[in-house]
Amino acid sequence: MGNVHVFDHPLIQHKLTYIRDVSTGTKEFRELVDEVATLMAFEITRHLQLQEVTVETPVGPSKSHALAGKKLGVVPILRAGIGMSDGILKLIPAAKVGHVGMYRDPETLKPVEYYVKLPSDVEEREFIVVDPMLATGGSAVDAISSLKQRGATNIKLMCLIGAPEGVEEVHKQHPEVDIYLAALDEKLDDKGYIVPGLGDAGDRLFGTK
Ligand code: URA
Repeated sequence: MGNVHVFDHPLIQHKLTYIRDVSTGTKEFRELVDEVATLMAFEITRHLQLQEVTVETPVGPSKSHALAGKKLGVVPILRAGIGMSDGILKLIPAAKVGHVGMYRDPETLKPVEYYVKLPSDVEEREFIVVDPMLATGGSAVDAISSLKQRGATNIKLMCLIGAPEGVEEVHKQHPEVDIYLAALDEKLDDKGYIVPGLGDAGDRLFGTK
């Protein structure tokens, strides 16, 4: 069974507070989500392997360490996931970016997939699927299934806020996938919003209603 990791770093928690705040406007909201995504990427990449390399400092040779060349892929779930991808790429610019397009049917609350584009070497990459809100878990489950159908075997899920219902659903359908959150909230309301959450992440990122 995959694990749930809630990042309790003070900077992540501080910024998340203002992301939640209804009085935070679109520009600041977007900047804060970007910053938290960068901080979360720092934590989520702790396991990356290093290899020894020697470089010349101005003083002499230094036996140092560099990333061992693990191939990473970032897959934002459209559209709100886009708000987190640049923040991750700041730290791992060599990662390739795939996209999975999903919208939530307002009646059934079920995700509908309308677009998938992934790097060609799917089998060789470790993927981080990103979406700010893990609510019912439907979109995340379908996005992960899409990746698996195309050959991906190493997948992590990174969201700002999760609901227990979403965590349970992802673990039920994809037990090996680790989930990384900035907060695990209380529950979903009857419209499928996370409580207390932050409202509609896509609308708040892009200034739509
Ligand atoms: N999607 C959102 O943007 N917000 C929620 O609270 C749930 C799903």
